[in-house]
Amino acid sequence: MAFMKKYLLPLLVLFLGYYYSTHDEFRPEMLKGKRVVVTGASKGIGREMAYHLSRMGAHVVLTARSEESLQKVVSRCLDLGAASAHYIAGTMEDMAFAEQFVVKAGKLMGGVDMLILNHITQSSLSLFHDDVRSLRKVMEVNFLSYVVLSVAALPMLKQSNGSIVVVSSMAGKMTQPLVASYSASKFALDGFFSTIRKEHLMTSVNVSITLCVLGLIDTETAMKAVSGVFTSPAAPKEECALEIIKGAALRKDEVYYDSWIWTPILLGNPGRRIMEFLSLRKYNMDKFVNN
Ligand SMILES: NC(=O)c1ccc[n+]([C@@H]2O[C@H](COP(=O)([O-])OP(=O)(O)OC[C@H]3O[C@@H](n4cnc5c(N)ncnc54)[C@H](OP(=O)(O)O)[C@@H]3O)[C@@H](O)[C@H]2O)c1
Ligand SMILES: *[C@@H]1O[C@H](CO)[C@@H](O)[C@H](O)[C@H]1NC(C)=O
Ligand SMILES: *[C@@H]1O[C@H](CO)[C@@H](O)[C@H](O)[C@H]1NC(C)=O
Repeated sequence: MAFMKKYLLPLLVLFLGYYYSTHDEFRPEMLKGKRVVVTGASKGIGREMAYHLSRMGAHVVLTARSEESLQKVVSRCLDLGAASAHYIAGTMEDMAFAEQFVVKAGKLMGGVDMLILNHITQSSLSLFHDDVRSLRKVMEVNFLSYVVLSVAALPMLKQSNGSIVVVSSMAGKMTQPLVASYSASKFALDGFFSTIRKEHLMTSVNVSITLCVLGLIDTETAMKAVSGVFTSPAAPKEECALEIIKGAALRKDEVYYDSWIWTPILLGNPGRRIMEFLSLRKYNMDKFVNN
């Protein structure tokens, strides 16, 4: 208890103050001329991000499976003012495609400043019984392909002091029924990318990682999936997409976007932050730096 009073409380106050204070102001010009890759950009939040980026004058390379939809999105991006807009269609079930996609995107734009990982494989709300096959697919598309894409992009992102943006969900920070596989894949993203963020910090790799924790958003897919099962206000996808881009441009560790204002504070988990902060001091990284 004495330890608590002496160290933890002041630390907590300092930490929360630091963590929740906003540092910089976002300006749309921050994205002008930036070379941005967006996955899952044929519809939903991904498509809205592509439109915002285009209005801000970024270069975009988009991907998803549906070539027809991507074509339409790209032509709208050009109308909205994108510095350039291309698409490469393919499935993120195929890790070879994921890797080649990033390389091609880099060639199209002459580098990459921001990699926005947003696609997910479609899954419906259901009890988990024994469907290990579909769990494996969810882990591969929603998690493993994100790792493959970021590994392929990292050399270019190091050159540009760039950013990785990982679109996750409240289901990646808390548990709920009916989404076991989806939730596992989103928790995995937090475990992996939040670790990588620490490694970047400790080895002076200037590539930011922004994890986005979203509540229910009014995309067609989500509205269809929850209909008749789950009632909660859905937030607008256009504003959601803009908040993700703002957080990414400001190189924030995490972005919370939900219609309930207490979500960021309750899911922000100051206990975890303090434990992570304290545990970092116990490491000697000499062996791992500059290899
Ligand atoms: N909407 C919400 O309520 C909500 C809440 C929390 C978090 N999120 C997160 O926000 C992100 C976007 O969600 P959304 O609601 O905008 O989804 P969405 O509208 O269903 O869009 C999903 C995108 O992923 C693509 N996709 C699907 N399967 C794919 C595959 N096998 N390979 C490559 N691309 C594939 C889809 O295009 P094709 O079908 O053409 O491939 C589409 O462009 C996801 O990461 C999701 O977890 C959403
Ligand atoms: C990246 O950051 C380093 C260190 O701050 C700086 O020297 C370099 O010029 C930056 N490169 C780019 C492309 O911004
Ligand atoms: C990292 O890159 C960003 C974006 O270019 C730059 O603003 C920042 O100063 C860099 N930080 C370091 C420590 O080099």
